[in-house]
Amino acid sequence: MQAQLNRILEEAKVQLDKAQDHAQLEEIRVKLLGKKGELTQILRGMGQLSPEERKETGALANKVRGEIEQLLGEKVEAVKKAAKAAQFKLEKIDVTEPGKPVNLGVKHPLTITMEEISKVFMNMGFSIVEGPEVETVFNNFDALNAGPNHPARDMTDTFYITDDVLLRTQTSPVQVRTLMKQKPPIKVISPGRCFRCDTPDATHSPMFHQIEGLVVDEGITMADLKGTLDSFAKQLFGPDTKTKFRPHHFPFTEPSAEVDVSCFKCGGKGCRVCKGSGWIEILGCGMVHPNVLKVGGLDTEKYTGFAFGMGVERVAMLKYGVDDIRLFYENDMRFINQFK
Ligand code: DAH
Repeated sequence: MQAQLNRILEEAKVQLDKAQDHAQLEEIRVKLLGKKGELTQILRGMGQLSPEERKETGALANKVRGEIEQLLGEKVEAVKKAAKAAQFKLEKIDVTEPGKPVNLGVKHPLTITMEEISKVFMNMGFSIVEGPEVETVFNNFDALNAGPNHPARDMTDTFYITDDVLLRTQTSPVQVRTLMKQKPPIKVISPGRCFRCDTPDATHSPMFHQIEGLVVDEGITMADLKGTLDSFAKQLFGPDTKTKFRPHHFPFTEPSAEVDVSCFKCGGKGCRVCKGSGWIEILGCGMVHPNVLKVGGLDTEKYTGFAFGMGVERVAMLKYGVDDIRLFYENDMRFINQFK
C-alpha cells in the first residue's frame, strides 16, 4: 500500500508537470483527491490494516496528500500567471508605432458656398428657416401672386406630382410658409434645393440650389433692401465691390430688381468672367407684393418688406471659375478635392 502511495505521488508529479491549463489541473485534482479519487480509495481501504501498519500508512498517506495539494496549488498559481502574461502580451500596445493616416472628407463646393452666404446673413441678424422640396402648387405659385396663367406654371418648366403638388421650382414658397407661421419682425433666409424641367447643359440642371431671403416689419423700405444687399455683396466678393440695381419683374415683388455686382475678377474693366461688361448679375429682389403679405394676414398699410433670391450654383461658378454646372453633380473627387 505504501508503494502504491509513493507511485501515486510520483505519477501526480509527472502529470502536474505536464498540465497546461485549469481544466487539466482540475481533472488531476478530481482523479487523485476527489471523493472517488485514487488517494481517497486507499485511505478507505486502511481499515483492513493492522494498527501499526495503519499508523505508518496513514502518516504516509497524509504526507502524500499534503504534498500533492501543495504541488497542485503551486501549479494553479503558475498557470494563472502564465495566462495573465499571455493576455498582456496579446493586448500590448506599441505607443511608438506611427499612426495610420485618417482620410478626412471635404465639403462640397456648393456646401461651402451656401455656408459662406448664410454666414454673411446670419451676421446681419437673419435666422435660417427651411421648407420642403415637395410643395403645393398654391405655395409655389398662387400665394406668390403667380396666378393660373403665369408662364412659370407651364408644364415644361415644372415637375408636377399631382395637379396640386409639385417639386418646388424656387425657394420662394418658404416666404409663404414663414408668413403663415410667423408674425413680424421677420428676418430669415432659406437655403435649399429647387427643381425645373430643364435639359442639363453647361449652365442648366434640373436640380439646383437657391437661397431665399425675407424681411418684413413696420417701416421697411427699398433703402433697407439696397443697404442689406450691398453690404452682402461687399462681404462675399470683397470690400471694393459695387452694386447696381436694375428694374426687373417678379410676380411676388413690386417694385422688383435684379442686382449686378462689379466684376470681382477685373474690378469692372471687363474680362472673360463678366463677358466684357464689368458687371455680373447675381440675384433677384424687390419689395414684397401686398398680395403676398396678405397671405400671412398682415395689414399691408402697416407692414412692408423686401425679399431676394439667388442661385447658389451661379455664385459658386463665378467665385471658383467653374464653367460647367454639371461638374457639381458628378462627384469626381479630383474636382471636389480642389475646394479644400
Ligand atoms: N424666385 C426667383 C427665381 O427663382 C428669385 C427671386 C427673385 C426671389 C426675387 C425673390 C425675389 O425672393 O424677391 O427666379
